Amino acid sequence: MSVGIFDSGLGGLTVWKAVRARLPEQPLLYYADSAHAPYGVRDAEDIHGLTKAAVEAMWRDVDLVILACNTASAAALRRMQEAGVPPGKRVLGVFVPLIEALTERAWGDNSPPREVAVNQVALFATPATVASRAFQRELSFRAVGVDVEAQACGGVVDAIEDGDMILAEALVRSHVDALRRKMPKPQAAILGCTHYPLVHDAFQAALGPEVTVYSQADIVAASLADYLERRPEFREGGRDALVTTGDPDRVSSRATQFLRRPMRFEAA
Ligand code: DGL
Repeated sequence: MSVGIFDSGLGGLTVWKAVRARLPEQPLLYYADSAHAPYGVRDAEDIHGLTKAAVEAMWRDVDLVILACNTASAAALRRMQEAGVPPGKRVLGVFVPLIEALTERAWGDNSPPREVAVNQVALFATPATVASRAFQRELSFRAVGVDVEAQACGGVVDAIEDGDMILAEALVRSHVDALRRKMPKPQAAILGCTHYPLVHDAFQAALGPEVTVYSQADIVAASLADYLERRPEFREGGRDALVTTGDPDRVSSRATQFLRRPMRFEAA
């Protein structure tokens, strides 16, 4: 069965695009829960319920689901894994590959936490992801001595979903200013929301060229390719489609605008 990529809306398309480029033959089911986006302003219980319902719908067509949504990964992944998924199914998140890249670890290196090259890290994410402290928790398993300053970027996902990139970029500038008041000289910045690569240039411009900006798409695609090498049973056949719980015409036109190629969504 094919691989599924889940997001609350359009942000996970940044991951979909990177996976498509890396594994062009791999059937991919992209599921956008656009009817309930944004997730980042909801509470953890609500995010867990929505994510679980979407992933259960995806199990009809796929065996492996990537939560290409930090908010869902932060609020729902651990709980879903602990409750158990159906036999033969797997659900993975997007934090761990990113943290492994930041801490220069190989995939699945579970050795004790150690000192790493960067120690002043800015995290930009949705309010729910910041509130969960999931990034700091996963980082603490792998690195010591890293100071993380998190900035909740209210409004950015809504502006992107509405296609209002002028507003999204203005909000990015104001969130970077707010971060700099707390941490004047970050060495690295994590775009901890899969929507934010769509405004990557605004983050980089506001942060300046001396700050390394990490975004997840390529990191997650490389990690998935590596995983599928080791677990080829997840590669076989399956459905290749883009589905949404929202209005397929509206979502298709936004997705086409963002990825600058024709994107055709159907109803989930
Ligand atoms: N793109 C998602 C993330 O990575 C979710 C954004 C949202 O729905 O608020 O966090």
